[in-house]
Amino acid sequence: MKKHVWRPLFVVLSLVIFILLFRLAYVPADFGAQERGYTFGFHRLGNEQEWKDYPAKYKNSSYCNECHDDKVKSLKASAHAIIPCENCHGAALGHPDKPEKLTVDRSRGQCLRCHAKLYMPSSGRNNIPGIDPEQHNPGTACAECHNPHNPSLEEM
Ligand code: HEC
Ligand code: HEC
Ligand code: HEC
Ligand code: HEC
Repeated sequence: MKKHVWRPLFVVLSLVIFILLFRLAYVPADFGAQERGYTFGFHRLGNEQEWKDYPAKYKNSSYCNECHDDKVKSLKASAHAIIPCENCHGAALGHPDKPEKLTVDRSRGQCLRCHAKLYMPSSGRNNIPGIDPEQHNPGTACAECHNPHNPSLEEM
């Protein structure tokens, strides 16, 4: 066969060999599908531990129970039972060490996220009782009258 036929073949072959050698040197040995198959795709085995050690920003309401059990108890028995504490107070992060306190947002906006009346049909958001912020005691913090941890109207 003529040289001009062989030459491109050598180029392609050396490229393939280069890629295989590069992969051998560059991809960590523990990279692969791991023992649970392809459920979690290809990943490094060592990466699993790294993610487990990654500090979670959000805990959950049972974590708060250790020190604020009064709030957890009252919330769980109220119309607000389904709202996680951190939805209103922000991510726990390293609280109570860092930060020592979580934010207490008493602004009307905090409640209006869910309670500003919608005038158009929508998803389940319309099932939450809504008020017109211009008409409903404007200028006064909602928490002056409603207890955010137990907003029942009978309790007022
Ligand atoms: C290990 C105990 C502990 C845990 C767990 C804990 N807290 Fe606290 N929290 C504290 C302490 C202590 C303070 C400071 C109290 C103070 O100075 O009045 C505080 C303060 C707060 C404050 C501010 C109170 C204020 O008057 O400014 C909020 C809000 C709060 N925590 C919410 C939460 C939420 C939500 C969780 C769960 C995600 C949580 N905390 C978990 C101990 C804890
Ligand atoms: C719907 C929003 C909302 C949710 C959910 C919520 N809070 Fe609060 N929280 C507030 C607001 C607003 C205040 C300020 C109340 C006030 O000043 O009268 C507050 C105050 C607090 C305070 C400090 C003041 C106090 O009364 O001692 C703590 C501690 C606290 N919340 C913890 C929690 C914990 C723990 C949970 C979950 C069990 C939780 N909160 C769920 C909105 C919320
Ligand atoms: C994340 C969404 C959300 C936020 C934020 C929120 N609420 Fe609610 N609220 C709800 C849901 C859900 C209900 C229960 C609706 C139902 O009973 O179907 C409710 C119920 C209520 C009720 C009616 C209770 C009753 O007995 O009819 C009042 C009053 C109320 N919330 C006040 C507040 C106030 C004040 C704040 C701010 C501190 C607030 N809410 C923040 C979702 C929210
Ligand atoms: C001065 C006191 C006061 C303030 C401030 C206040 N409310 Fe109310 N709220 C009431 C009273 C009283 C009722 C029950 C009678 C009524 O529906 O007006 C009520 C009823 C509600 C209801 C139930 C409506 C229904 O149809 O079931 C919701 C939701 C509510 N308020 C949310 C809020 C939110 C959100 C804020 C802040 C943006 C707020 N309120 C501020 C006194 C107050």
